[in-house]
Amino acid sequence: MEEMFKTLPQHTSSWLKGKQTLYKYQDVWNHEKFHAGGILARQSFKARSNDVFLCSYPKSGTTWLKALAYAIVTRKKFDASTSPLLTTMPHNCIPTLDKEIEQIIEKHPNTSRFAPIATHLPYNSLPESIRASNCKIVYVYRNVKDVIVSYYHFMREIYKLPMEDAPFEEAFDEFCQGFSVYGPYWDHILGYSKASLERPETTLFLKYEDMQKDPISNVKRLAEFIGYPFTAQEAKEGVIESIIKMCSFENLSNLEVNKTGLGEGSIVPENRFYFRKGKVGDWENYFTDEMIEKIDKLIDEKLSSTGLAL
Ligand code: A3P
Repeated sequence: MEEMFKTLPQHTSSWLKGKQTLYKYQDVWNHEKFHAGGILARQSFKARSNDVFLCSYPKSGTTWLKALAYAIVTRKKFDASTSPLLTTMPHNCIPTLDKEIEQIIEKHPNTSRFAPIATHLPYNSLPESIRASNCKIVYVYRNVKDVIVSYYHFMREIYKLPMEDAPFEEAFDEFCQGFSVYGPYWDHILGYSKASLERPETTLFLKYEDMQKDPISNVKRLAEFIGYPFTAQEAKEGVIESIIKMCSFENLSNLEVNKTGLGEGSIVPENRFYFRKGKVGDWENYFTDEMIEKIDKLIDEKLSSTGLAL
């Protein structure tokens, strides 16, 4: 595989001071390691009809969605004082298809898989068996301006660059051009959106901003969609509110594991990088009028067919 990567188009990010090189394979830009994980997943993963996938473009609310889905499916076993989410970071509670394929297959060779499976793979890069099945797909998306700001800080933290050494304007331009992990961003959201228009019963779109505004309805929708609806009794007992509270940014970001835990073997060295501000609209502190004009034009050009309000 190493030889194959040498033949692919490459892009080294200037704003990250040459510390990150992405490769373009089958129209997707990514690190070699993540491409390799995707290739392996496509070769070996066989979807089951009751599998549930949590899909997202990075920095769109993946960590939150994973925590919520995990809390929903394990609520009979654990409550807010015993949940593994209190001591394990959400990314380690839910397996990732293109990173932990071997464990996913080995752990659950025949039985139905207990937890949802997460992935950042674009729709067209998913294993064929997922696209051919009736598996449920939950796609979380977020105002792209906030995605860009979140991505900027995440990458610069990973590569240990202070803001003054990592020009936001260059990061913004590269992102718009499609040079980002699992990018282009535009194709990512378009792929899932097309799939959901073709097969609405198998895909649920959740919007980060809506989840912030109205967590109860969105968590109920999520639970119903993945096959774990809340009973009237649970609703009365406040189980939904308790899950929302446990998975809130305030709670998760203050847990020791998420404040000081290290990402062993991951390209993300510290868990805290996944928890920055957790706010809607931070982009206003970064975007110039020119950037706003450029991105709004791109959203219109690339995504107006999706009908999604970005
Ligand atoms: P910010 O950088 O804007 O703060 P992902 O999980 O897809 O990597 O996305 C990370 C973004 O989600 C970060 O956004 C992070 O702070 C925010 N986030 C993480 N956990 C969250 C939670 N429990 N609730 C709301 N937002 C959360």
